[in-house]
Amino acid sequence: MLQFELLGQDPLSHARLGRLTLNHGVVQTPIFMPVGTYGTVKGVLPRSLREMGAQIILGNTFHLWMRPGLDVLRALGGLHGFEQWDKPILTDSGGFQVWSLGEMRKITEQGVHFASPVNGDKLFMSPEVSMQIQTVLNSDIVMQLDECTPYETQGHVTTEAEARASMQMSLRWARRSQDEFHRLHNPNALFGIVQGGMFEHLRQESLDALAAMDFPGYAIGGVSVGEPKDDMRRIMAHTPHRLPAHKPRYLMGVGTPEDLVEGVACGVDLFDCVMPTRNARNGHLFTRFGDLKIRNARHRSDPRPIDESCRCHACAGEAGVPWAEGGRGGFSRAYLHHLERCGEMLAPMLASIHNLHYYLNLMQEVRAALDAGDYPAFRARFAADRGRGV
Ligand code: GUN
Ligand code: ZN
Repeated sequence: MLQFELLGQDPLSHARLGRLTLNHGVVQTPIFMPVGTYGTVKGVLPRSLREMGAQIILGNTFHLWMRPGLDVLRALGGLHGFEQWDKPILTDSGGFQVWSLGEMRKITEQGVHFASPVNGDKLFMSPEVSMQIQTVLNSDIVMQLDECTPYETQGHVTTEAEARASMQMSLRWARRSQDEFHRLHNPNALFGIVQGGMFEHLRQESLDALAAMDFPGYAIGGVSVGEPKDDMRRIMAHTPHRLPAHKPRYLMGVGTPEDLVEGVACGVDLFDCVMPTRNARNGHLFTRFGDLKIRNARHRSDPRPIDESCRCHACAGEAGVPWAEGGRGGFSRAYLHHLERCGEMLAPMLASIHNLHYYLNLMQEVRAALDAGDYPAFRARFAADRGRGV
């Protein structure tokens, strides 16, 4: 089940406001989806995710198939019950993760042969297998198995002919994914994935073929795969708005706060990225006024929170009143700096809460601006704030 309603449209860009209804609930778009690869958003309790306004999270078919395995997930009634998250879940198909194995795998028309990174067992992932696993997971949004066309392999930049062959195989896998998804009577929604590398005409061919297959939603894959930033922005500006207007659009694996604000203007509705959580674990914090490295000595005795405008538990404490509004709750930069230097678990936990809150709140502000009809003013304010410095 999937319903998508368009609630508003920015007249000066492709940005739109929407409401996506899935089997486990409603998602306001544009939205950011926190990544929970192994059935957990690393270091963050589901109640914290709810508190910070997460509406949908990701899981990974490949990782969950390796561990704990399908028998356990089946016995526990799918991913929602297993990880105690009752709102929508999107699972990636394994295409990208298997591709990331590098030397360890062999891709053929039938599917991907590889050795389990966990115990070395010989395994095979095909569009059919991916659909079977995602049906057991019972994720609200299921991704087709695709081949993520790399930007370069060992210094060789992917040619047009290679990108075309790869994109065409992903199209055949889209059809096989769709056939198997229907054969399994999966009650959720299957998304097709546009590929085509850095070539606009291949992207167009891919999206035309997928649109003809009538998926309930579409993703744009094969970006943020090591290409220069200009190429990523070029594909992001090309593809989303050419997809069917009344279907949700998901840009896979993107990106920085600036990428999200720009991506929305290009017509993207859904984003995911490991950046807020992964960077948090490295002491890299996102704020309204630019980014901050908490390990830096200048924070050693700073009493201020990470971001004085932030309402997250790390910055505003139990009361949730930001410093900028007179609240004096929350943890100081000095304390976070100390935790980080001591290698304390609470450091990445608080940093993850803050960074995810920042991303989710950014998208909330994007939606409010679209609702008020002033997205251009929002973009200007966002850029000025981010440039101000912390
Ligand atoms: N995550 C980031 N990029 C991709 C992609 O191209 N395909 C899939 N399946 N997942 C991704
Ligand atoms: Zn915060």
